[in-house]
Amino acid sequence: MLSKLGVIGAGAMGSGIAQLAAVSGTDVILADVNQEALDKAKSRLSEQLGKLLEKGKIDASQLNAIFGRISFVSELSAFSDREMVIEAIVEDLDVKTKIFQQLEVICGENTVLASNTSSLSITAMAAKLQRPERFMGIHFFNPAPVMKLVEVVPAIQSDEDLVVQTIRQVEAWDKIVVRAKDSPGFIVNKVARPFYSEAIRMMEEGVASKEQIDHAMTSQGFKMGPFALMDFIGHDVNFAVTQSVWRSFWFDDRYKPSFSQQKLVEAGYLGKKSGKGFYNYDAPTEKWEPKEEDDTLLAYIFKRILVMLINEAADTVQTGICSEQDVELAMQYGTNYPKGLLQWAEEIGYDEVVYQLDGLYDRYHEARYRVSPYLRDRLSIL
Ligand code: NAI
Repeated sequence: MLSKLGVIGAGAMGSGIAQLAAVSGTDVILADVNQEALDKAKSRLSEQLGKLLEKGKIDASQLNAIFGRISFVSELSAFSDREMVIEAIVEDLDVKTKIFQQLEVICGENTVLASNTSSLSITAMAAKLQRPERFMGIHFFNPAPVMKLVEVVPAIQSDEDLVVQTIRQVEAWDKIVVRAKDSPGFIVNKVARPFYSEAIRMMEEGVASKEQIDHAMTSQGFKMGPFALMDFIGHDVNFAVTQSVWRSFWFDDRYKPSFSQQKLVEAGYLGKKSGKGFYNYDAPTEKWEPKEEDDTLLAYIFKRILVMLINEAADTVQTGICSEQDVELAMQYGTNYPKGLLQWAEEIGYDEVVYQLDGLYDRYHEARYRVSPYLRDRLSIL
């Protein structure tokens, strides 16, 4: 197994990746151009490890050993002996590519280079390298030490044996690994789009309020409702991902961004971090409680969002982005959905899922409601 890892970018993701690898016994060098970021990463790390100590998950000597396994540097020259380097810097294709080109000069020929990008093309980055076969995407979720899922995304140039070895390595860091084709949003960020977009759509059309929609989802086991979750993620981030997925899928209507969210971004109402988003965090209002007469509406909201999510999961498998098993793992461990979406489809019945989606298509005549062939193929009456 790998013993020497390099991580570039000591922000939220890079410092988390360094922590989880060090906790599993890997020696890590964490690099950043910004000294302040390195200092912050160091104090965040000691705070996180302190919490593990308090909870009794590690003892004092383990804490010291983990800390001792991480070095903080500002120069990439320290990476010359690294077996793998994971990059977690700013989300910019040119900046990332330049870093990898420098690393190819600094590191040995056998070093695996990987990007933690959420939205950029792994294949496009690989194409700019001398050894594209040794490059791939390794996409962690935030916070990296806590979230179980990792998407491994080979470039079309990646060496298959290396991909398999890398998957084993990430599993050795106690992660659940799914394998995604290099495609926009990979698995989780693609399949989750309707959770937000269908919720906004219903609110815009006056079908239900944001409170009703959030409640409809949390009462069925989702940890947060769509509006609370978008406020939590930040509308700048969430809107950017939606736009990127929409653009990358050649402006497929299914991923069309909403004006409501665009206006929030324009106003600087970015969600929790700015005190205001869909909800107002500076002056919290009373929690909305459902009444009996809301039951039918809440059931409708839940089913409409659920069938849209199932359709997206089904299409992701249909188009070969990932396996059935991986789409189930991805949504449970990458976004904490209470159940796998295909399992949910089995439970409510494929006939019902297709009936609901066809009903939406008949009403709107929009491509976003087209039924995935994967679902039609599973109908009991063809
Ligand atoms: P961040 O802004 O918290 O940290 C980025 C760090 O990279 C900063 O400390 C910055 O000083 C450093 N940096 C920038 N250019 C550099 C360079 N040329 N050399 C060395 N260091 C450099 O960003 P965050 O959130 O950690 O994201 C990093 C990457 O991970 C991005 O590609 C992002 O899309 C991806 N990602 C982010 C997730 C999230 O929820 N924040 C989840 C999964 C992936």
